[in-house]
Amino acid sequence: MTTVQTSTNGDQLNQDSDKSNLIVEGKTLDLPLYKGSIGPSVMDISRLYAQSDMFTYDPGFTSTASCESKITYIDGDKGVLLHRGYPIDQLAEQGSFLETCYLLLYGDLPQGEQFEDFKHRITYHTMLHEQIHTFYKGFRRDAHPMAIMVGVVGALSAFYHDSTDINDPTQRNIASLRMIAKMPTIAAMAYKYSIGQPFVTPRNDLDYSANFLNMCFSVPAEDYKVDPVLARAMDRIFILHADHEQNASTSTVRLAGSSGANPFACIAAGIACLWGPSHGGANEAALTMLEEIGSVDRIPEYIRRAKDKSDPFRLMGFGHRVYKNYDPRATVMQKTCHEVLDTLGLKDEPLLQVAMELERIAREDPYFVEKKLYPNIDFYSGITLRALGFPPEMFTVLFALARTVGWIAQWREMIEDPQQRIGRPRQLYTGPTLRDYVPTSNR
Ligand code: CMC
Repeated sequence: MTTVQTSTNGDQLNQDSDKSNLIVEGKTLDLPLYKGSIGPSVMDISRLYAQSDMFTYDPGFTSTASCESKITYIDGDKGVLLHRGYPIDQLAEQGSFLETCYLLLYGDLPQGEQFEDFKHRITYHTMLHEQIHTFYKGFRRDAHPMAIMVGVVGALSAFYHDSTDINDPTQRNIASLRMIAKMPTIAAMAYKYSIGQPFVTPRNDLDYSANFLNMCFSVPAEDYKVDPVLARAMDRIFILHADHEQNASTSTVRLAGSSGANPFACIAAGIACLWGPSHGGANEAALTMLEEIGSVDRIPEYIRRAKDKSDPFRLMGFGHRVYKNYDPRATVMQKTCHEVLDTLGLKDEPLLQVAMELERIAREDPYFVEKKLYPNIDFYSGITLRALGFPPEMFTVLFALARTVGWIAQWREMIEDPQQRIGRPRQLYTGPTLRDYVPTSNR
C-alpha cells in the first residue's frame, strides 16, 4: 500500500514558507512552493516523478495549476473575476470590447493614441480573402455554424501564410489582430450562409459590435440601422465572454500551441472544445431547456428531474466548476437581458418569466443551495441573444467570437514564456499487462 502524507512547515500551508514537504512512502521530498499575487499558492511537483517514481492523479484537473498566468484571476468562492486586475463588471459597464481586447493582449488599458491605432488596425483586418467565400460553399446549407467555424478558422492558416511563424513576434501580433478582426466576419458569414442570404461586407464606419450586427442582419434590398442600445448590449456580451482563465477550451488552445502548431490551428482546436454542452454549448442548451419548460407551472417538474440522480437531466445554465457563488458575469448578463428586452418592447417575454422564477425556486431549494449551484453566464444569455435576433445555433458561435481574444492572449503568453515546453500529461494505466500476440488461427 502506498501512503502519501503532505505537510508544509508543519501541517498548515505557511505564507512565509517557499517550500513544502511531501512525505511519499516514508521519504520526505522538499517541493518548491510558489505564491500567486492573489489566490492559492501552488506546490511545484514537476520533479516528483524523478524523485519518487510516482505521478499525481487529478482527472478533470480540479487541483492542478497547468501554467503561470498574469491575465485573468477568478475567486470562485467569492464570485470574483478580474482581467489584468480589473473587475469584470467595471469593464463590462464602463469599457468597450476592443479596450478589453487590448487589455488582455498587452496587459494594460490603452492610452488615447494607442487605442486609436489598435482600433484602426482591427478595422482594417476585418475583410476575408475572397477565396474564403468559395470555401463556405463547400458546406451544406444546414451545417451547424460551429462546424463551419472550426473549418474556416482552421483554414485561415492556408490563406495567411505570412503570419504563421510562431517564433516571429511581429507575425504573432498580426495573426492575433487578424483573428480578432476576422472572427465577426466569419461568424456573420456562417449565419448568412445558413439562411441563404448574401454575405455582407464589413463596414469601416461602424464600431466592432455594430459592424457585426450589421453583417448579420442587414440585407442589400433595404437600409438597416443598428440600434445603439443593442450594439452596446452586444459589445457587453462580448466583454463578458472575453476570457476565463484556464477553462477547457483555453487549456485546449494552450496544449495545441505547446507543440508549436500555428495560431489559426490552435484557435480552431479551442472552438471545437467550446462546442460541447458542458462548456460553450450551454447557452443554447439553457434556452432549449427554458423553451421546453415553457411555463412557470411546469418548473417544479424540472427541478425534481434535476435532483433525480437516475435522470441525466441537469438544470442548464446552473452550476460551475469554479464558481461556488453567483457567477459575476451572470449579474451583468441578467441586467443586459432586461435592457435588451425593454428596448425591443419584450418586457413580458414568457421565457424571461420562466427563467426568473426558475432561478428564484432553485436558489431556495436545499439541493442547489448545499451544492452551491448558482446561475452561470449562460442562464440569461440565451434569452438575450434570441431577443437580439440570433437563432440558438449561433449562440456558441458568438461565445467563440468573443473568447478568441482570450485564447490568443493565453496562447501568446505561453509562447513568450521561456520555460514553455510541450504539454504531455501522464496516466494511471489499468489495461492489460504484457501478453504475447496470438495468430488468428489460434484465438
Ligand atoms: N443541475 C443539477 N445538478 C447539478 C448541476 C446542474 N446544473 N450541476 C452540478 N450538479 C450536481 C452534480 O450532479 C453533482 O452532484 P453530486 O455531488 O450529488 O454527484 C454536484 O452538483 C457537483 O457537480 P459536478 O458535475 O461534479 O460539477 P462540475 O464542476 O464537474 O461541473 C458543470 C460543472 C458546469 C459542468 C455542471 O455544473 C453542469 O453540467 N452545469 C450545466 C451546464 C452548464 O450550465 N454549463 C455552463 C458552464 S458556464 C460556461 C463556461 O464557463 O463555459
